[in-house]
Amino acid sequence: MKKTVLITGATTGIGKATAFAFGHKGYNVVFTSRNQARGEEFSKELSAKGVENTFLELDVTDEEAVKTVVEKAVAKYGKLDALVNNAGVALGSVLMADATTEDLRQMLDTNVMGVFYGMKYAIKEMLKTGGGAIVNLASIAGHNGLLYTAQYCASKHAVVGLTKGAAIDYATMGIRINAIAPGAIKTNIIQASIDTGAYSEESIAAIHPMKRMGTPGDIANGIVFLASDDCPFMTGTTLFVDGGYNAQ
Ligand code: NAI
Repeated sequence: MKKTVLITGATTGIGKATAFAFGHKGYNVVFTSRNQARGEEFSKELSAKGVENTFLELDVTDEEAVKTVVEKAVAKYGKLDALVNNAGVALGSVLMADATTEDLRQMLDTNVMGVFYGMKYAIKEMLKTGGGAIVNLASIAGHNGLLYTAQYCASKHAVVGLTKGAAIDYATMGIRINAIAPGAIKTNIIQASIDTGAYSEESIAAIHPMKRMGTPGDIANGIVFLASDDCPFMTGTTLFVDGGYNAQ
């Protein structure tokens, strides 16, 4: 039977590359976006590549909506083999005391609560259908402090905590839960900080031993691996895909 993956926030950046990567491996791809037009457009792109896909509109901060999306995915394809909690935001690249409370709230709502809702409802379905794998988007900022990102760091450290704790809870129940920690990847999130002048592309590349930023495809491959049957003894861990950043 074909496997099915659900990916949140998948019409841009890492999520988009991940949808293509799962499609390439023969998965049914259920993907979400807050933007109807972008979702429909991306659905056509996937179909043109022969990928069976379903687009569902979703804001991950809406718990009921997350539950509905998970249930719709299972209703359509019979089972959810993998969930990728990809949707995330990085707001306000400034010194911590200059950050706004609203920005931190939005990051916690999206990066932490959104991941929690996704895990919660996917796990309930996976328990009924024989298990599965969950991959959460953490970051090098989930393990380290990074300049101008204290609030984002807090949200991604929480993702690592949720991943570890839940992995232990379900370790004997056929559900593996891991995180992936990208270094700086060229996507809208980073571009926003470059546009404000907080960083330059060169200064971001320079903090990685490989002296470059990563690509969405670099991360997509790691995510597909963590969700696959190639790593049956991996759970509760974080896979660093960061050009050597965390080795320093
Ligand atoms: P991106 O901005 O292209 O992708 C994030 C996606 O999440 C967007 O499509 C956005 O619309 C969606 N999103 C934001 N809030 C949402 C909400 N409330 N409900 C539903 N969707 C929402 O940026 P990128 O880089 O592809 O980010 C993907 C994930 O990777 C994020 O969790 C990010 O924190 C993480 N990450 C990115 C790194 C980077 O350097 N680009 C480094 C480490 C982690």
